[in-house]
Amino acid sequence: MCAPSKMVRRSSLTLLLCLAAAVAGVLQVRGQRAPSLEGFITIDCGLPEQSSYVDPVTKIRAMSDAGFTDAGYNRNTSAEYMGQLRMAPNYHNVRSFPDTDRGCYTLPSLTPGSKYLLRALFRYGNYDGLDRLPVFDLYLGVNFWRTVNISTAEGVVQAEVIAVVLDDSVQVCLVNTGSGTPFISSLALRPLENTLYRQVNATQALVLVDRRNMGDTGNFTIRYPDDPYDRAWLPWSNPKLWLDISTKEKVQENIGSLRLHAPSAVLQTAVTVLNDSESKTVELSWKTEMDHVDRMLGCVAILYFAELQILAGDAVREFNIIVDDGPNHPYRPKYLVGDALYDVKPHECLSRYNITMVATANSTLPPTINAFEYFSVISTANVGTDLQDVSAINAIKVKYQMKKNWMGDPCAPKTFVWDGLTCSYVISGRPRITSINMSSGGLKGDISSYFADLKDIQSLDLSYNKLTGSIPNVLAQLPSLVLLDLTGNQINGSIPSGLLKRSQDGTLTLRYNKNPNLCIDNNSCQPTKRENNFKIVVCIVVPIVAVVVIGALVVLLILMVRKKKGSTKSSKQQDRQHLDNHRFTYKELETITDNFKIVLGQGGFGTVYDGFLQDGTQVAVKLRSQSSSQDVREFLTEAQTITKIHHKNLVSLVGYCKDGIYLALVYEHMSKGNLEDKLRGKNDKDVSLTWRQRLCIALQSAQGLEYLHKSCSPPFVHRDVKTSNILLNKNLEAKVADFGLMKAFSKEDDTHISTVRVIGTRGYLAPEYAAALQLNEKSDVYSFGVVLLEVITGQPTILESTEVIHIVQWARLHLSGGNIEEVVDGRMQGDFNVNGMWKAMDLALKCTEHDPAQRPTMTDVAAQLQYCLELESEDQNRGNANNNFHMMKDSSRDRDLPMM
Ligand SMILES: *[C@@H]1O[C@H](CO)[C@@H](O)[C@H](O)[C@H]1NC(C)=O
Ligand SMILES: *[C@@H]1O[C@H](CO)[C@@H](O)[C@H](O)[C@H]1NC(C)=O
Ligand SMILES: *[C@@H]1O[C@H](CO)[C@@H](O)[C@H](O)[C@H]1NC(C)=O
Ligand SMILES: *[C@@H]1O[C@H](CO)[C@@H](O)[C@H](O)[C@H]1NC(C)=O
Ligand SMILES: *[C@@H]1O[C@H](CO)[C@@H](O)[C@H](O)[C@H]1NC(C)=O
Ligand SMILES: *[C@@H]1O[C@H](CO)[C@@H](O)[C@H](O)[C@H]1NC(C)=O
Ligand SMILES: *[C@@H]1O[C@H](CO)[C@@H](O)[C@H](O)[C@H]1NC(C)=O
Ligand SMILES: *[C@@H]1O[C@H](CO)[C@@H](O)[C@H](O)[C@H]1NC(C)=O
Repeated sequence: MCAPSKMVRRSSLTLLLCLAAAVAGVLQVRGQRAPSLEGFITIDCGLPEQSSYVDPVTKIRAMSDAGFTDAGYNRNTSAEYMGQLRMAPNYHNVRSFPDTDRGCYTLPSLTPGSKYLLRALFRYGNYDGLDRLPVFDLYLGVNFWRTVNISTAEGVVQAEVIAVVLDDSVQVCLVNTGSGTPFISSLALRPLENTLYRQVNATQALVLVDRRNMGDTGNFTIRYPDDPYDRAWLPWSNPKLWLDISTKEKVQENIGSLRLHAPSAVLQTAVTVLNDSESKTVELSWKTEMDHVDRMLGCVAILYFAELQILAGDAVREFNIIVDDGPNHPYRPKYLVGDALYDVKPHECLSRYNITMVATANSTLPPTINAFEYFSVISTANVGTDLQDVSAINAIKVKYQMKKNWMGDPCAPKTFVWDGLTCSYVISGRPRITSINMSSGGLKGDISSYFADLKDIQSLDLSYNKLTGSIPNVLAQLPSLVLLDLTGNQINGSIPSGLLKRSQDGTLTLRYNKNPNLCIDNNSCQPTKRENNFKIVVCIVVPIVAVVVIGALVVLLILMVRKKKGSTKSSKQQDRQHLDNHRFTYKELETITDNFKIVLGQGGFGTVYDGFLQDGTQVAVKLRSQSSSQDVREFLTEAQTITKIHHKNLVSLVGYCKDGIYLALVYEHMSKGNLEDKLRGKNDKDVSLTWRQRLCIALQSAQGLEYLHKSCSPPFVHRDVKTSNILLNKNLEAKVADFGLMKAFSKEDDTHISTVRVIGTRGYLAPEYAAALQLNEKSDVYSFGVVLLEVITGQPTILESTEVIHIVQWARLHLSGGNIEEVVDGRMQGDFNVNGMWKAMDLALKCTEHDPAQRPTMTDVAAQLQYCLELESEDQNRGNANNNFHMMKDSSRDRDLPMM
């Protein structure tokens, strides 16, 4: 039943006619000169900048990759793998990409629309000393090429693709899929003639599975110059299975319009059946190991034949060729003329390829085969971003030295869009850049006129940088521009008339505040005024300069004196500064934590270890191995965001690590542990916190959270406010920790954000978050209310005595009688101002209101706590007895308590 449909689906091998033989007469006589190296690009990845060498085998010069990529690091193969293999020099080093999701090479100066062969080689050689074999993806421009699965440290993985390159350059990108750090040993590009490999066109390419030269070649791989395209023909011979045959005669090339040749050296050897064999079959079968390819697009085989023996009068060599269970093709090879048979259309890929030659009944001689290539087909239908946009944004990238993830194509694939860019995607056509947000990017210099080449751009946000110079008038010519934000720069001159006009007629929102040197209306730019300004400036500047100079001298003196005393303090400080935003390798973490010796605790993100930086600073290292590449992306964005947040009541991040499967955050060490342990810790001998200390801790935590809600842009919801996330330093100053779970949320979208996962801790979750996954600052306020209740009562969030009850209900229940001493933590021994205590309790209950709208903001909370603290300070000199009296009196007041 299946057979007929298979017949239809399967393509037939097309025989190249002996046309070639006819044309052979015009075969040009080639001189001894080696074929042209023109257009070859040969890169030894990881070779030091500006070095190059000539490959001992091919005599092709290989150069350093420094000019082809701006990411990654040079690494040497580890010594134990150096000596093996009589290794070609390109396996001595690699370039690895540990800190970018996509690391790309750009190969320039190509002829658009031409066919090229690209070959990348990978030999791990334990270059990172981690002995971990990575798996990662390889992309040809914006199209998936294949997965690179490194299965041994010493083996070489070869990736080769034959493709049409549409632009004047092509990118090869290594993509981290969360299974190890991508690396590469070498990369080569070879131009092909467009008549070769007819299956390859603008939308589909061929990925090499195997390319073999059959017969006895002395184990020698044929490459350039024997193959002018530098294809690598690996030898395959097996004396147990086949008889090797060969000729010294040159095998003619099959040239002409159907040119599809293998080099003569390849065709001069072949295999046939063994002398004493009964069998009349040659079978070439090998596991294809193509789990990584899209089998749907199919496979293509190209088989090369030439008769190498002069046949006696009535001898016939005729055989049927069957590729992967396809139909028979009877065929007779021709004496010393190379022929190729191939799939015009791809056929279904199997888990083994199977090329079988069976002698026909009429044949007196057994079958032979000289060489073959086997490919899988990939789609190259995805197109990169509009070329003008690409060249403009690349110029902008270079000008402002943008790092971030600005690598590869700016818009495609969608998952790798450059940070700060928005693109439009259409079915037929290239993606376009529609908006750029480089706000707070530290940009220096003038405004690049290349922005004006981004013709589809609607929004350009350059606010809060250090841009100088004047505004280019060409920006007014951008047809779609509706927002131009230049707020907070050092731009001078006046606003170009074109922009001013568009701003006035309402087609453009133009923001230019906080540019002190910008002339808003022309009147303020009169030269007379400037003179005045100059005088004023002189009057102010001269004394200031004097003061500054004297001050600097004094500081210098002090510093010099200190240096002499041998104080290392200042250098330590410098180191710390340097460590801001630092990225650690896993190896460094091992050193820092002494091989993860001391566990401090278990956080939401992972296990926390104690550690010391080289300068002796104590740190806490939160480590985990990730589960998906999505996690990695989220983690990196967050780590990068968190490193930018600094507040005295937020635990600051010293650095982070993303190395292989390991993700880690390195925080400042908080020596007094967390508030939960302090309130009802394992250590009963711990002296209990006083009410004043508790208030201070609550106030400081509230200020930290307020900062996240109000001063961060975009604002943050902490999501996991709890006593174990409030850490205390040696002075008992509180800092809020565990931003690992924070998520930026945008004010513009909605008043809440929804998340798919519930993140947070039982007992602290706001009801609306637990029920509907609605999350906003008020959910943090709820959690903080719970914290405040714990601070007051010393109780856990869930009380389990006769029944299980949540602390909020428990407090409300006990307070309904107006009796505060029933709930206040007894360990404070009644030492507190009762008014302040009631106020704090009121606040806690307001924070834990069921309706988010009824809850105060963190700003209100901080203000109220400040007030409680003032009450407490006023009362500081009270005696204990006195206090008891106050307490009795105040706690008997009737309270109008909000009930749940
Ligand atoms: C790699 O080895 C070479 C010489 O063997 C040395 O010059 C170079 O500095 C090494 N590179 C790295 C990154 O270790
Ligand atoms: C990589 O290859 C190994 C065996 O060589 C296999 O077990 C593993 O599943 C492969 N990984 C991927 C991601 O294909
Ligand atoms: C490339 O070849 C495939 C298969 O023959 C065909 O479907 C596709 O339309 C071709 N693409 C172009 C751009 O010619
Ligand atoms: C080719 O290599 C194989 C395996 O390394 C070896 O057994 C064989 O003798 C070699 N053949 C020649 C001709 O060198
Ligand atoms: C097989 O036969 C050929 C000629 O028919 C001969 O040259 C060759 O030596 C034989 N090989 C073996 C292994 O017997
Ligand atoms: C290869 O194909 C031939 C002809 O279809 C078949 O007889 C043989 O069993 C196949 N071999 C394998 C390993 O599948
Ligand atoms: C095989 O031989 C038979 C007769 O002996 C002949 O009819 C047939 O055409 C031959 N087949 C081929 C492919 O030459
Ligand atoms: C650009 O990004 C910043 C935050 O990084 C944001 O505040 C601002 O609104 C963004 N600008 C636009 C135009 O979206």
